Amino acid sequence: MSVTDERPSGTAVRGGLPADQQPDWPDRSALLATAAELSGCPPLVLPAECDLLTERLAAVARGEAILLQGGDCAETFDGVSQEQVAGKFHTLGDMAAVISDAVQLPVVRVGRIAGQFAKPRSRPEETRNGVTLPVYRGDIVNGAAFDARERTPDPRRLKRAYHASATILNLLRAHASEHCAEFWTSHEALILEYERALTRETELGTYALSAHLLWTGERTRRLDGAHIDFAARVRNPVAVKLGPSATADEALALVDRLDPERRPGRLTFIARMGARSVRDALPDLVAKVTASGAQPVWVCDPMHGNGVEAPSGHKTRRFDDVADEVVGFFEVHESLGTHPGGVHAELTGEDVTECLGGTCAVLPADLPTRYETACDPRLNRDQAFDLAFLLAERYARAYPNPRR
Ligand code: PEP
Ligand code: CO
Repeated sequence: MSVTDERPSGTAVRGGLPADQQPDWPDRSALLATAAELSGCPPLVLPAECDLLTERLAAVARGEAILLQGGDCAETFDGVSQEQVAGKFHTLGDMAAVISDAVQLPVVRVGRIAGQFAKPRSRPEETRNGVTLPVYRGDIVNGAAFDARERTPDPRRLKRAYHASATILNLLRAHASEHCAEFWTSHEALILEYERALTRETELGTYALSAHLLWTGERTRRLDGAHIDFAARVRNPVAVKLGPSATADEALALVDRLDPERRPGRLTFIARMGARSVRDALPDLVAKVTASGAQPVWVCDPMHGNGVEAPSGHKTRRFDDVADEVVGFFEVHESLGTHPGGVHAELTGEDVTECLGGTCAVLPADLPTRYETACDPRLNRDQAFDLAFLLAERYARAYPNPRR
């Protein structure tokens, strides 16, 4: 494609590079004005915190710790509440306790939280009853309601996302201090104007200070694209999603591009292969990356490769598929002698009915009862615990002798 034209498909040009999944902002000067305002605002996190997370992730890469990353698919401005933040903080904390009790390894807790407001989408537009509107791209871009005004990308939402993130972070910091626990924030670095506006040159180097850890999604990880270029420029720990079509050469090129110094903890690969593909697609990636001498953190996202549509039309996931992908991920690492670094999951502390199954047995008929997600279906609190117990069992089996 040409890198000089803006396209409604969502591929734009940023800094001379193709930038996938960018909204079609109607007023680019308003976008740049908001970004300029944000670049004068205080950062949300500090460089030294990002460095400390890199150290924690280095322990995961060495096989001395486990990464537990989770939260909403898409946070919403209306969802900013003490209950929701506490629910996720405690759910991740309780899951971490279950896992670390079983395996005697520290669990690094990273929320998909305090900034997870932007969504990549498979189509730029959506049609209902003959009306076509831009697709919902997350609260940082537009509103979810199917209404022309709501769906028009509005740059003022970047500032709302910043303030919402600050509010959530404030609560997280209070909870972390109350419980003397470490807790880190992460989100997909999708809207480049927002991420660049919160990037600061500091005496420690250049940092993206919208969150501690940023990841690049499956749809924006092209090597020649603006998202990978952005990730390459910042010193934060970064992650990249790898779907079933990812090749070992792509993974190796991402290592070279994002972690040329081979800094332990700098790079995490989040494999989201799907239960049916993980055993076939993952081994080659892990084997070749390991053979190259690189030591990224490998985590399993058992959510994004396992979407199904329920008869009611709800987008859902079966807990059995989630569990099967996790088991496949462990099998791959066991056969290669590498460390299954952890999981990345969409979950909430609430009693929602978005994913099927689990010990609480959410049935297809239950889906409409509490289907509240703004995007993908999340594990509810019980299902999150089921996942934690499964992880505890698999880690205990992988590491039968205490390792610390
Ligand atoms: C997500 O994490 O919500 C997401 C869209 O994931 P992926 O990039 O793996 O599709
Ligand atoms: Co999602």
